Amino acid sequence: MTEAAAQARQDEWHYQWANYRDKTEFLFREWIAPNTLESMKGESVLEAGCGGGHHTRLIAQYAARVTAVDLNTDDLAREALAEFKNVEIRNADIATMNFDELFDTVICVGVVQHTDDPDATVANLRRCVKPGGRVIIWCYSHEGNALARWLIEFPRKLFLRFLPRPLIALLSWWITLWVYPLAYTWYLLPLKFLPYYEYIGNWRRLSARRNMLNVFDKLNAPQTQFIRRARAEAWARDPDFTLEHLSAYVGVSWRVTLRRKKA
Ligand SMILES: C[S@@+](CC[C@H](N)C(=O)[O-])C[C@H]1O[C@@H](n2cnc3c(N)ncnc32)[C@H](O)[C@@H]1O
Repeated sequence: MTEAAAQARQDEWHYQWANYRDKTEFLFREWIAPNTLESMKGESVLEAGCGGGHHTRLIAQYAARVTAVDLNTDDLAREALAEFKNVEIRNADIATMNFDELFDTVICVGVVQHTDDPDATVANLRRCVKPGGRVIIWCYSHEGNALARWLIEFPRKLFLRFLPRPLIALLSWWITLWVYPLAYTWYLLPLKFLPYYEYIGNWRRLSARRNMLNVFDKLNAPQTQFIRRARAEAWARDPDFTLEHLSAYVGVSWRVTLRRKKA
């Protein structure tokens, strides 16, 4: 590992993915839409920031080959995916990784916002894709996240990062359970002006454990940058790329697809 990669390490993620496994498929499908898992059939796919490898498992059922990269959890992903002969797990910093080959699809879900410099990270993802290939990104949006920025980011910087992780897990359960009464009363009504209306609607579609993981993920993250729409649009400002898709997901995140022009 290079010195820069060692500095970029965030050990919080190892705790998270060692203790929580995510088996939800529909959420991943919605995060990568309008792209589909089926469209990766026969492709070479690079997954940047694979965590415990739960999405890698889904991709591997379609793609010909998957290279999954993580700086902090490659050991967990390797163990979880040992049965897949078409998966290779690598330890690398996705902001600087550089492979001998280019990939049909580069996919990066829930990671860009946690890197030191999201723009530099995306520039590197663009470097990894073949002419004609695509880069699929899902990341937190600045828009729609005022409450998270104020209610989570300040406490996280001030004291949450110093708390033992099991205590953060308890706090996450406590917050999760408090959201349920809202999700099944006010948020059932057509009151779309309520904050996090669509996001809390999703609460009813997910298991309590998955909702808790969503909360834990936010409190546990060592660093987060919320991405403005204009910033996500600028990721396509490269003469070799076009912005194929940009849409909001449940009002709190962006789904972005960049397409590399054919040579
Ligand atoms: C929120 S988790 C997302 C994991 C997975 N993509 C998912 O959606 O469940 C963020 C992951 O990105 C990894 N990560 C963060 N910064 C990274 C970097 N610079 N290089 C490689 N991996 C990184 C973390 O180790 C962590 O596993």
